[in-house]
Amino acid sequence: MLETKRVVQLRSRGFYVRMRLLHGTRSSRNPEKGFCYRYFKWILWVVHFLLFLLLLSHYSQVVQGMKVYVYELPSKYNSDWLSNERCSSHLFASELAIHRGLMRSDVRTLDPWEADFFFVPVYVSCNFSTVNGFPAIGHARSLIASAIEHVSAQLPFWNRSLGADHVFVASHDFGSCFHTLDVEHVVIPPYIPPETVRATLEKSPAAGPRDIFAFFRGKMEVHPKNVSGRFYSKKVRTKIWLKYGGNRRFYLRRHRFAGYQSEIVRSTFCLCPLGWAPWSPRLVESVALGCVPVIIADGIQLPFPSAVPWAEISLTVAENDVDNLGKILEHVATTNLTSIQRNLWDPSVREALLFNVPILEGDATWQVLDALSRKLDSVDGCIMRMGCRVGVGVGVGVRSGWGEPNGLRARMDDVARSDWSLLRLVGTKLYM
Ligand SMILES: *[C@@H]1O[C@H](CO)[C@@H](O)[C@H](O)[C@H]1NC(C)=O
Ligand SMILES: *[C@@H]1O[C@H](CO)[C@@H](O)[C@H](O)[C@H]1NC(C)=O
Ligand SMILES: *[C@@H]1O[C@H](CO)[C@@H](O)[C@H](O)[C@H]1NC(C)=O
Ligand SMILES: *[C@@H]1O[C@H](CO)[C@@H](O)[C@H](O)[C@H]1NC(C)=O
Repeated sequence: MLETKRVVQLRSRGFYVRMRLLHGTRSSRNPEKGFCYRYFKWILWVVHFLLFLLLLSHYSQVVQGMKVYVYELPSKYNSDWLSNERCSSHLFASELAIHRGLMRSDVRTLDPWEADFFFVPVYVSCNFSTVNGFPAIGHARSLIASAIEHVSAQLPFWNRSLGADHVFVASHDFGSCFHTLDVEHVVIPPYIPPETVRATLEKSPAAGPRDIFAFFRGKMEVHPKNVSGRFYSKKVRTKIWLKYGGNRRFYLRRHRFAGYQSEIVRSTFCLCPLGWAPWSPRLVESVALGCVPVIIADGIQLPFPSAVPWAEISLTVAENDVDNLGKILEHVATTNLTSIQRNLWDPSVREALLFNVPILEGDATWQVLDALSRKLDSVDGCIMRMGCRVGVGVGVGVRSGWGEPNGLRARMDDVARSDWSLLRLVGTKLYM
């Protein structure tokens, strides 16, 4: 019985590395929930700092032993898109950063026969927004399908595993639309250019003085539109604005400001309420810049839990508890704020959400490789080499049938029926 189930799983399950922070469902767990993950986490809870370093170096060897073959694809799948300047720095640019990082990394192999994974560099998110701001779903769908046809015709490796060991980065929100029971995810953060973070920190170090108590800059609707019965941010941002807009300790701003990172680095608490989606790039920026993130997004799934001890570096406030936000923050400020900041200011934590080129040990791309390498090792998990399907892409679950272009199309069609408010997110011109 067990055996049968296992075989079925091996044939039909795979995973996709997910680029975004999405609603978690208990049924689509991170594959890291294996023995190693639990052990690792347990260690983190007990003696956080010292053993963290030890285990890091252990995993480092695993990552180094892994081999990834990077397909060379015609430029229409990737570099052509870069003529749009925005494509190398926008929210979903991790597809580009991971590709570039891999090209220069030691894990890259030029010999596909020794590869554990095959990376298919298709930039689907780059300008998937049309002029009117609406996402071009058809474009992503056909681009990936065509890339699969291309790689399966050129080399035998796709057919060998039906794409099981192939990795895509599809760093857009469509991943959330692929939620199904048999999908496993690796959640990865949105892209924030590491240079901007470093430039900000050069002017004001993470551990420097912070004169703003609580900060939020972003869209706050006074009258959240009732679209399809749904309110923007489930009215959370509206409540924050109405209740704390006049509070001197709250620095709330509703308009864009390019220099907002300088505000984050001056702030003690950075509010990270949901928008259309639970995640937003400000969570990454808060962590990277050492401002304690206050996560107000029920069910959010956070990236790299084995590297970032979220419970120890952030605060979580329930959406319906937002009226008590002020009290909660005051309480923390007088009790455990110092220890939260000490955990947060650990450089290894602040680096873990940034995608660097070249890859730095412990950074976001490294965490992706680490997650992949643990797939290879994991006894419980899907053993990629044996034909378990692996997709690396933005938050897409890989199910049976993913290998064939037809299967892919079917899955992509799910997107068309998916929650349009998430798609709309793209239409908000990324002011979140
Ligand atoms: C990508 O951008 C170009 C120019 O900026 C535009 O003409 C084209 O329609 C975009 N492609 C998609 C699929 O949105
Ligand atoms: C892989 O399978 C497809 C569809 O069956 C076929 O068209 C293609 O030629 C195969 N690729 C290789 C390299 O044999
Ligand atoms: C919002 O939409 C829902 C469902 O369509 C409806 O029941 C509700 O009355 C609307 N609320 C407002 C304030 O318009
Ligand atoms: C700090 O205190 C708050 C409120 O009592 C609690 O929810 C949170 O878990 C504590 N965090 C840490 C890291 O101790």
